Amino acid sequence: MSAGREHFSSKLGFILAAAGSAVGIGNLVGFPVAAAKNGGGAFLLIYAIFVILICLPVMMAEMAVGRHTNKDPLGAYNELSENDTKWQFAGWLGVITPFMIAVFYMVVTVWIFGYLYQAATGNLAELADPNTFGAFINSSTLFVYMLVVVAITGAILIGGVKQGIERAAKVLMPALFLLLVLLVIYVLTLDNAMSGVSFYLLPDMSKITGEVISGALSQAFFSLSLGMGILITYGSYMSKKQDIADSSKLVALTDTSVAFIAGLMILPAIFSFDPEIDPSTLSDSSVSLIFVLLPKIFLSLQMDIGYAGASAVASLFFLLVFFAAITSLVSIIEVPNAALMEKTKVSRKKSLLTLAAVMVFLSVLASMSFGMSEPLTKLVHYAGADKSLFDVIYDVFYDTVLPLNGLFICLFVMFRWKKANFNKELTEGLEQGSHKMFLAYSDFALKTFIPVILAVVFINTVAIKFFGVHLFF
Ligand code: PHE
Repeated sequence: MSAGREHFSSKLGFILAAAGSAVGIGNLVGFPVAAAKNGGGAFLLIYAIFVILICLPVMMAEMAVGRHTNKDPLGAYNELSENDTKWQFAGWLGVITPFMIAVFYMVVTVWIFGYLYQAATGNLAELADPNTFGAFINSSTLFVYMLVVVAITGAILIGGVKQGIERAAKVLMPALFLLLVLLVIYVLTLDNAMSGVSFYLLPDMSKITGEVISGALSQAFFSLSLGMGILITYGSYMSKKQDIADSSKLVALTDTSVAFIAGLMILPAIFSFDPEIDPSTLSDSSVSLIFVLLPKIFLSLQMDIGYAGASAVASLFFLLVFFAAITSLVSIIEVPNAALMEKTKVSRKKSLLTLAAVMVFLSVLASMSFGMSEPLTKLVHYAGADKSLFDVIYDVFYDTVLPLNGLFICLFVMFRWKKANFNKELTEGLEQGSHKMFLAYSDFALKTFIPVILAVVFINTVAIKFFGVHLFF
């Protein structure tokens, strides 16, 4: 064990921090919309199967690698492969991916914070105007909001594992659950709420296509914070007395429950606003839902509860999403931070300041790629469209590299670190005889079909995203 490495103080602390990472914008908005558009209950079922059969084993693999080595992804790949250069590539990718995803997530979190501020200060009517979002993301006030978000994230991270990450998760996660439950209860009392619930839950098998199935897997992977090195890093702060299988199940259960419950908030809200709505016409992007449709829906509540009431509901919603986003942002920045501290032996503070400087620089550029700067807005052209800097970061790191990182970790654990060592790590902290079937299943799946599925998803995504060709589905 590396001297002086900080650890979470308890199992609960670890679970809340890891669940805080997993619960994010993807759960609260991305998941409900994906489910509504793609077959309701049928999508939910496929999603749940992927979480259990594919994501959970990968999650255990990540946690085991982290806890065994006590290192970030770069250090862990290096240590277990004895500095094999082939695996160093996977290690670097395991640090660069979260760094770049943090840039795009930072941009969206800043928007959320801006909308929270505006809703809370009485400007809901303006937010509900369809032209506001376009103007908002191109206004210079954005950079003031960015400073606030960076300061909050930095203040949490500077506290370290126990006093920073764990403490924040212990406050923000219960607050998030409370806000979510309050909003669900309120939304369910609105007219037509139940048509939204039925639409969300009733299965429609005709919507299930190859693309929907692969979309469900990508959504589950992203939602559980896999392939980002986060669970390797958080695993390295986990006690040897803790059961990895049990912890993985709890994190996955929390994440999936929040995503599911969020559907009970979003869909009834949409249906009560427009009972005739055809959800297949909803935009694919969470962004247009959060920043365009929802503000309109919130404003319409003023007929019932007045402008102040509507503003309060909108503020609570944005606060909920903001809490979810902050705990995710913290976790993803901790990965390159842990790697930088380990590699250069600088203090946490120095490391964070260095990262903040580079990250703010890139986030400013990414924020300017929505029109403020022409060259950044039309940075490159592929698959028949102009792509902005933000699109490129999203397409490359979120869509493409995540399954690749997942593939690397499966191959690495099973064939390089070796399954006997992996299994030995899993038995540390394991209650005698528990999770027997699941561990046997994971062992088999990780060395057989999970890597194959991840490889197919990766190749297919590259073909679609960058060449506009559908290979498998
Ligand atoms: N699981 C997060 C979500 O659903 C994804 C994420 C985690 C993004 C950590 C960034 C950092 O939004």
